[in-house]
Amino acid sequence: MAEKKNWMSQDGEVQGQDFSDGRKPVTRRRFLQSMGASGVAATNAGLFSAAKADEANKEPPVGPQHPAQSVGHTVRLKVNGEMRQINVASNAVLLDVLRDQLQLTGTKKGCDHGQCGACTVHVNKTAVNSCLSLAVMHDGDEITTVEGLQQNGRLHPVQQAFWEHDAYQCGYCTSGQMMSAVAILKDKRIPADDHSLREAMSGNICRCGAYKNIIAAIQDARAKAAGSV
Ligand code: FES
Ligand code: FES
Repeated sequence: MAEKKNWMSQDGEVQGQDFSDGRKPVTRRRFLQSMGASGVAATNAGLFSAAKADEANKEPPVGPQHPAQSVGHTVRLKVNGEMRQINVASNAVLLDVLRDQLQLTGTKKGCDHGQCGACTVHVNKTAVNSCLSLAVMHDGDEITTVEGLQQNGRLHPVQQAFWEHDAYQCGYCTSGQMMSAVAILKDKRIPADDHSLREAMSGNICRCGAYKNIIAAIQDARAKAAGSV
């Protein structure tokens, strides 16, 4: 039997009868409905797989909350002459341990990237940027911070010279400047002239620009130390 002809009205509905074999005529509305449903399904599937891909590509979490990074280690540090035993996280930097766990806040955090020298301390008598060093690496080391420079209530000659020469303005860089200066004055490989001293101190930045007085203070401390031997 021949199929009946159908035609479409202006609103898109097909006028006429069903096909004789039971199939429904395809109307514009039904066509759009089916396209909409499959479109939504395809979009959802796309979003779902994108979300899964995002999940798979995610970097593992970093920071103290990550279990592998929060495991504690016991370290023994000789800090300013006193033996300290503390538990530190694997990823704890020496600067934070000194400031936050040992409350030695004289050592400052400036850039936290090894570029300003504000965090300078001595490790086994060598000046280091404590912001770049993991605390767990220093088990058994001898550490001196600015609090350990004075002896029996008397300022270290470098501290005294900074005081006398006004070698600071805000003072934020000062502890790092003094720790570097003390190490430089003990280092016989560094010539005593101003140019060599400036070069040796170039890892310590002073945003206030107190460089002239800082150099004068260090040279004064050098001269007084030479006069006292
Ligand atoms: S805080 Fe360490 S070098 Fe700046
Ligand atoms: S005194 Fe202010 S940064 Fe040096």
